[in-house]
Amino acid sequence: MTHTPRDGSQSRTLLDDLFPGARLIVAANRSPFRRTLGVHGEVRWERPAGGVTAALDPLLRQTGGLWVAAEPGAPQELRVPPEDPSYDVAVLGVPADVYRGYYTGYSNSGLWPLCHNLVERAHFRSSDWVAYRQVNRLFAARIAKEARAQDLIWVHDYQLALVPGYLRQFGVSGPIAFFWHIPWPPTVVLRLVPERKVLLQGLLEADWIGFQTEESVDAFVSAARRELGVRSQRFAHGITLLYQGHQTHVASVPISIDVQKVEQLARTEYAERLLVDLRRRWQLGAESILLLGVDRLDYTKGIPERLDGFSRLLSRYPSLRGKAHFLQIAVPTRTEIADYRRLALSVRRRVAAINRRFGEPGWLPVRLIEHNVRLERLVVLYRLADVAVVSSLYDGLNLVAKEYVAARVDGSGSLCLSETAGAYHELRSAFPLSPLSPERVAEGMARAIFASPEERRERMQSLRGAVSRNTVETWLSRVLTGVRRATDDQLSGANETPV
Ligand code: G6P
Repeated sequence: MTHTPRDGSQSRTLLDDLFPGARLIVAANRSPFRRTLGVHGEVRWERPAGGVTAALDPLLRQTGGLWVAAEPGAPQELRVPPEDPSYDVAVLGVPADVYRGYYTGYSNSGLWPLCHNLVERAHFRSSDWVAYRQVNRLFAARIAKEARAQDLIWVHDYQLALVPGYLRQFGVSGPIAFFWHIPWPPTVVLRLVPERKVLLQGLLEADWIGFQTEESVDAFVSAARRELGVRSQRFAHGITLLYQGHQTHVASVPISIDVQKVEQLARTEYAERLLVDLRRRWQLGAESILLLGVDRLDYTKGIPERLDGFSRLLSRYPSLRGKAHFLQIAVPTRTEIADYRRLALSVRRRVAAINRRFGEPGWLPVRLIEHNVRLERLVVLYRLADVAVVSSLYDGLNLVAKEYVAARVDGSGSLCLSETAGAYHELRSAFPLSPLSPERVAEGMARAIFASPEERRERMQSLRGAVSRNTVETWLSRVLTGVRRATDDQLSGANETPV
């Protein structure tokens, strides 16, 4: 892949050009770093898994600025990353019961399943709503205290939908951007949220709102029109919404990864050594085929269906027995919620059942790793895997798909990608996979495994082109340009005659 050389300050320059003198203030629920103390009182740093922190941390390292996050318990002020401090993190301390209502309750037992169209899992309790409002106000209060008129405030994701509205109530008049990382549901599904109007009103106080796909943009615009009577107008770069005298630009700007960093990590001496070592330890010979899944252990990711699919594959193609290995990395998440604990059990049970049924001396069909794997090691697993399987039932984007492609520096490897993952829109050359039924998952895997080497190479080449065209820097540049345009229109009153 070709890249413009980067000196690490490209994003800062862009921010300065478009928002002179601005400090970037990011609000996102999860802090990119956690500082804890080990048993002997030594400081330990943890890096949580998830798309939002994976994409934003590399940017903040370049632009500097402040990241406001929340956790139950005591507040923390950090300078990160620990090895080369370049930006600040303010972790708001939230009383444990309030955090539970906001995070475990409204955000992750309500909005998360609902936005992924899994309506039967969604619960909206009034006490959780109170907590959600309270924590969103805390975020806004902290930011309002910090922000100067020229600063750029950028709020992230479904946990913080009310923050733009509260910021305006606290007198913030500067630019506010919002990025919604997960799918926006169809209006008929959104109508199951009792507080949908308030959520929409809160969001519409932002100047610019970004989504991962055109489908989400359309669904959001339709919800704003139907629920609030918002007027809309299409323009070259997206859609303008006009509500109570305030304009919001809405656009589809899919997120990405630090492609250059992934490529570099995939080429280090450490990577080469680990590659050889793992092949030996896992007994992967020239004939072996390694399939890989990397996910947070979330029911939206389709992990049980994927394992059942692998089991079907082994039944249907006896020639793969003894040869095909499935490595599933499943990082525990939201374990306070019963659905997640049940999922962990069902995944473990399935892994044990497949290994019992098919395993032979010298061949363990499925290996399950249940902890976070650092990017330095993950790229090696990506390089090792002949096929990456991303079979989410529904997914805002899915950065694992992009990381896998970026790590395939030798142009080999195959990506099986769910047609319902946001990334599918950009990565159409992947082997498509229909994630709901194990038969279909098995078919998708088989297509990737048995495709000709030419087809695999061509597909990977085209995928690598797509990933290199939209890196995390491209994403930032599209976001910042979009927010600048939205803010200028706001000031000039352009687009005030909607259709
Ligand atoms: C997804 C969401 C993020 C979230 C991440 C990790 O990527 O869009 O907002 O932070 O998952 O989930 P967690 O609940 O562990 O922060």
